[in-house]
Amino acid sequence: MKQKNNIPGFSKLSREEKIKLLLTEGIISEEMASVLSSHLHTDTALQSMYEGFSENTLSNFYIPFGLAPNFLINGKLYSVPFAIEESSIVAAAAYAAKFWASHGGFHARVVNNIKVGHVYFNWKGDKESIFKLFEKKKENILNYLQKYTSSMETRGGGIHSLQLLDKSTDLANHWQIKLEFRTADAMGANFINTVLEALSRYWNDMVTKLLDAESFEPIMAILSNYTPNSLVEAYVEVPIKDMEKISGEYSGEEFAERFRRAVDIALVDSYRAVTHNKGIFNGMDGVIIATGNDFRAVEACGHAYASSEGTYSSLSKVTIEKDIFRLTLRVPMSLGVIGGLTSNHPMAKTALKILDNPSAEELMMIIASAGLANNFSAIRSLVTGGIQKGHMKMHLSNILHQLGANEIQREKAKHFFNEREVSHAAVKEFLQSNI
Ligand code: MEV
Repeated sequence: MKQKNNIPGFSKLSREEKIKLLLTEGIISEEMASVLSSHLHTDTALQSMYEGFSENTLSNFYIPFGLAPNFLINGKLYSVPFAIEESSIVAAAAYAAKFWASHGGFHARVVNNIKVGHVYFNWKGDKESIFKLFEKKKENILNYLQKYTSSMETRGGGIHSLQLLDKSTDLANHWQIKLEFRTADAMGANFINTVLEALSRYWNDMVTKLLDAESFEPIMAILSNYTPNSLVEAYVEVPIKDMEKISGEYSGEEFAERFRRAVDIALVDSYRAVTHNKGIFNGMDGVIIATGNDFRAVEACGHAYASSEGTYSSLSKVTIEKDIFRLTLRVPMSLGVIGGLTSNHPMAKTALKILDNPSAEELMMIIASAGLANNFSAIRSLVTGGIQKGHMKMHLSNILHQLGANEIQREKAKHFFNEREVSHAAVKEFLQSNI
């Protein structure tokens, strides 16, 4: 089905009118309309709240909300909520959490928690005079911005630093004012962008009045999602001999070496590093989404950080020293536990309550631990029996569901396919001969 005509004013229509129009235009069929309608929330107040989170909403798109218990992080036990659609991710997190809970747990710390934003402008005039003006007026700028920052300051945040940067060797006439912020328990995107836009207007006035209007052109003001100084580190460690319980056909030592080798490959090979880090984000994104945070921002930042040495590389690393195996993850992220969806989405609020209402920094540590857990389980599977065995179990369950298998057929199928290859055709054939 595809669109044939232009649709003006779509956003102005109600949800019902939108669906009607899509039917008339042949963009959706009656069957598709009924799928959309069957996924609406029965509580109209909740439905209208969900609709309000985005635009042109037609229905809701469900993904599972699950829990991995037994996450021991810095000595505290957490049940970690995940909103994720990919099978095996919650199982992998729960598996790692269980193993590490009896081996010291996850050790995590926030290295720093500083956010960044820039005011971008063109400057063709004298370099020394603009630096002089900036230095002379720095206090005035900060005083002026007080009205935008004072409430954040009462919560322990505010402007951390303010710098004028000449970037004209990278791009002709390109200059920036770089601001660093602390945003307490908020991700701070609105706060930062408000401050930056106010600064941009103030700086514009100042330079055009006091320096040289002809040589100045404001371009834009926006936070950066690259926050390498909003950084968290998590690690797990264990004597190699204790890994025998999970090392399959390998000895503890062989397993630890194979594990290290797999991570070392991801440190030097970008093809492998992308998949390796994807496995880390499997765990992180689930918790980020469940708690109403912005996973696009965290992903973009994490991948940029993974490339910060010049080539894309693993975010985790393994050391083996004095027979102690240690897996460490360092990853930047910008998160909040107040404001935005974290305060408005009932499921996000519930997820945060399940986590005992953590601070933003505590949540950073939980999310890094979830990433590390998934990384651990993925590499363990990869260097022992491979990942397909676990995946196939879930795959079988999904196929059985699709084909409408009953409880008895499902049980029989689990036994039958234990040592056999799972495919849609094979499961269909099995069900036909096991009615
Ligand atoms: C699958 O979603 C994630 C893995 O590919 C991660 C990895 O290869 O490390 C299993």
